Amino acid sequence: MKHFLDIHKTDAAELRGMIDAAHAMKIARNGRPRGAPDDEMPLKGRMVALIFEKPSTRTRVSFDVGVRQMGGETMVLSGKEMQLGHGETIADTARVLSRYVDLIMIRTFEEATLLEMAEHATVPVINGLTNRTHPCQIMADVMTYEEHRGPIGGKKVVWCGDGNNVCASFLHAAGQFGFDFTFTGPEPLDPEEKFVEFARAKGSRITIQRDPFTAVEGADLVVTDTWVSMHDPESAKERRHNQLRPYQVNEQLMSRAKPDALFMHCLPAHRNDEATSAVMDGPHSVIFDEAENRLHAQKAIMRWCLGV
Ligand code: CP
Repeated sequence: MKHFLDIHKTDAAELRGMIDAAHAMKIARNGRPRGAPDDEMPLKGRMVALIFEKPSTRTRVSFDVGVRQMGGETMVLSGKEMQLGHGETIADTARVLSRYVDLIMIRTFEEATLLEMAEHATVPVINGLTNRTHPCQIMADVMTYEEHRGPIGGKKVVWCGDGNNVCASFLHAAGQFGFDFTFTGPEPLDPEEKFVEFARAKGSRITIQRDPFTAVEGADLVVTDTWVSMHDPESAKERRHNQLRPYQVNEQLMSRAKPDALFMHCLPAHRNDEATSAVMDGPHSVIFDEAENRLHAQKAIMRWCLGV
C-alpha cells in the first residue's frame, strides 16, 4: 500500500513518474469539457473520501473533479460533522473508513493526525495539507514550472516571506528534483532546520538571504504565499505584516529575477500584501496554471497510490 504523505517520504524516481504522468494525462484530455471523463477510467468503481478539517477551494474541487474524470466517486466530509470532531479516535476513524472507501485524502491541522490516519488505514492516505507540509501543491508547482520552462533540475527557486508549510514542501522538492532554493524572509519565520537539512543532504544548494533584492537576483522562479496561514492566530496578523512587508513581491523585486522568470503563489492570496496585483496578473505569473495543475498532478498521485 502506498500512502502519499510527503515529498521527502516518496522515492524521487516515483515522484518524477507522477509528474510525467500528470503532463500526459493533461495533454490526453485535449481540451474536452471539465466534466467529461478521461479516455481511461482507472478509478471506475472506486470510492474516495475527501476529509477537510480546514477550509479549501482548490484542494476540494480539484480532488473531486479529478476522481470523477477518472471514473470514480467521492464523498466530501467535514471533520466537524464526523464523529472525529466529537471524540472518536483517528485510529478508529481510519479503520472504519477503510471498510467503505478505496482511498482517503485528508486536510488537517496536526501532522500527527495524518500519520495516525495512515498508520491505521488499510487503504492509501494522501496529505491534502497539514500545518507542516503541503506536498500536493508542490507537485502541481513542479509540473507547472516544467510545463512552461522545461526541467526544474538546477534552476534557482526563491521563496519570499513566511517559511510555512508550503515552503517546507518546496524544500523537500528541492532535494528530490535537484533545484537550488533560496529563502528570503525575517529570521523568526525561517523554515524549520529539518527541512533545510533534508534538501542539503540531497545535494541541493540552499541559501538563507535576508535581503530580498539580493535573494531574487537571477531567479528562475519566484514564489510567495499568504503572510498569515490558516493555523496562525489572528493576533499574529499585525506583527506578521510588519515583519513581512519588506518581502512583498512587486514589479521592482521581480525585475531582479531573470527576464523569463516565473511567479507562483498557491492561492488564496491577499492581493497587494504578499504580492501586488501587477505581479499576480503580470507577464511572469502562472498562478492559475498552478491552480489548474492541482487537478492533473493529484490525478497522477491517486493513480500511483492505487497502482492503477
Ligand atoms: N492552495 C490550496 O491548497 O488552496 P485551497 O486552500 O483552496 O485548497
